[in-house]
Amino acid sequence: MQHEKVEKNLGLMTVLIVLAISFGGLVEIVPLFFIKDTTEPVPGLKPYAAVELEGRDIYIREGCNVCHTQMVRPLRAEVERYGPYSQAGEFVYDHPFLWGSKRTGPDLHRVGGRYSDEWHKAHLWNPRDVVPESNMPAFPWLFENILTGEKTADKMRALRAVGVPYTDEDIAGAKEAVNGVSEIDALVAYLQGLGTAIKR
Ligand code: HEC
Repeated sequence: MQHEKVEKNLGLMTVLIVLAISFGGLVEIVPLFFIKDTTEPVPGLKPYAAVELEGRDIYIREGCNVCHTQMVRPLRAEVERYGPYSQAGEFVYDHPFLWGSKRTGPDLHRVGGRYSDEWHKAHLWNPRDVVPESNMPAFPWLFENILTGEKTADKMRALRAVGVPYTDEDIAGAKEAVNGVSEIDALVAYLQGLGTAIKR
């Protein structure tokens, strides 16, 4: 009885289980490194401009991604509410991804262009001013904090190292583009670009 030998020998069983799981994992993971489709940007996708990149970091710092997803699922109810469902190729320049998993507020992947800059500012100053039943927190300090752009070029260099196609000019102009911009303007610039690579 071959099988009995394996069942009664813990060491052998452990080795065989590790082998089986490793093989299964590799079969799923290795092809992803070679299939071009998984890393192909959708046509028209641009890396975040310097100010948008800083806005994205503010979005992460303030934990917006804890209450908001950025992933419209291919379900009728979502597509009718938010717009075209999200595609893998729209996220290739996102490091890290901000897909999220908890929707306390609405999905934000297609929020770019849906509201005016003024609406976003009023909403982030105090959400209750524009949506009376809102339980989203207010972010008034974003209106006071001014960015210097000190680290923007370094951030872009780091992103370039993982494949985001920033040019030398992008990086050279980053500090100047960001210096003096308020956090609220950077955040709104980021929000207004979200999901706009695919037209409605
Ligand atoms: C505690 C959870 C929570 C956090 C944190 C949060 N939000 Fe919200 N957000 C909500 C809720 C709930 C709504 C729906 C009510 C409203 O519009 O205010 C909302 C709505 C929005 C909307 C309008 C979306 C639409 O399609 O109408 C935007 C834009 C938005 N949030 C941006 C942000 C940004 C940017 C941040 C971080 C600075 C943030 N939110 C942080 C809960 C949150």
